[in-house]
Amino acid sequence: MILTDMIKKRILIVGSNGMLGQRLTEYFLKNNDVELLCASSEEKSLIPNVEYKQLDIIQKNDVKKIITNFFPDFILNAAAYTNVDKAETERELCWKINVKGVENLALYSWTIDSQLIHISTDYIFDGKNGPYTENDLPNPISYYGRTKLASENSIKASGTRFTIIRTNVLYGPAKYGRADFVKWVYNSLSNNNQIKIVTDQINNPTYIDDLVQAISKIIYYKKEGIYNIGGKELLSRYDFTKIIADYFNLKKELILPILTKDLNQPAKRPLRSGLINLKAETEFGYNPKSIIETLELMKNELGIK
Ligand SMILES: NC(=O)c1ccc[n+]([C@@H]2O[C@H](COP(=O)([O-])OP(=O)(O)OC[C@H]3O[C@@H](n4cnc5c(N)ncnc54)[C@H](OP(=O)(O)O)[C@@H]3O)[C@@H](O)[C@H]2O)c1
Repeated sequence: MILTDMIKKRILIVGSNGMLGQRLTEYFLKNNDVELLCASSEEKSLIPNVEYKQLDIIQKNDVKKIITNFFPDFILNAAAYTNVDKAETERELCWKINVKGVENLALYSWTIDSQLIHISTDYIFDGKNGPYTENDLPNPISYYGRTKLASENSIKASGTRFTIIRTNVLYGPAKYGRADFVKWVYNSLSNNNQIKIVTDQINNPTYIDDLVQAISKIIYYKKEGIYNIGGKELLSRYDFTKIIADYFNLKKELILPILTKDLNQPAKRPLRSGLINLKAETEFGYNPKSIIETLELMKNELGIK
């Protein structure tokens, strides 16, 4: 074994209290080859027994302090302003977090020659002709999408080594915070609540732990550049919801089909979207689970017999 193989990798997870951040934290916490530091906007870590610092990525000096003190080999950025509809009116805050904050991370990542692994989205596309490859031309139709595209561009311009991961509709077993889509559907239908679900938004929902596995492989193989990480199946949100209802034996008649335009949401959504995973599959063996397999895994977590 060569000496560098014996040295622990230092990983900084930013946004560690978020839906993806929590699962990343739980995963790397169990890895003995990793020295982990977590940071997020709240005072305390939601995941116990982890080295944690409160951090607002808008604050350049605080970003500098954490990065230059810890000297991470990899910075995983799972922090973002993620409320797509509110972003239309809270533009300044959304820009500060998603663009200025990411610029700060990229600057100090470059300063210490770290690798920044940043999470982006299919919302950088207009949804006219998805699913998309990494080389398709972005054309965001929401303010959130514009900030996420701007964050990608800031990273590319910063000079730091980087990996940009584009993903879509994350779901999975995050314990804390807001319910993911599967839990929301499960809770609504179990409580006999009708839910309106769009039939015209197509994408490939991504199981969070598949994304965590992909990130772990990107670190292992030191992959740089842009990678799509989506789920196995491309389908409408309505069909996804029906699969969830079927799997958990819930009443499908409570699911009402609706068109996106009739929801009157403040932010536009890409309709024919989704991400082609071929590059990640061929370069590092990304192999996402089927929806049924992921529901099976979530079953225990939802406490269903
Ligand atoms: N969820 C999806 O379906 C989806 C789809 C495609 C791409 N993505 C991308 O995936 C990444 C992770 O998404 P997620 O669903 O896990 O998001 P999330 O649950 O909203 O988590 C984001 C985390 O970032 C933190 N944060 C916000 N502003 C911050 C700041 N200024 N400084 C430090 N931390 C800050 C949030 O803290 P507070 O709660 O205190 O604000 C939260 O803990 C994001 O980049 C998102 O754009 C998500």
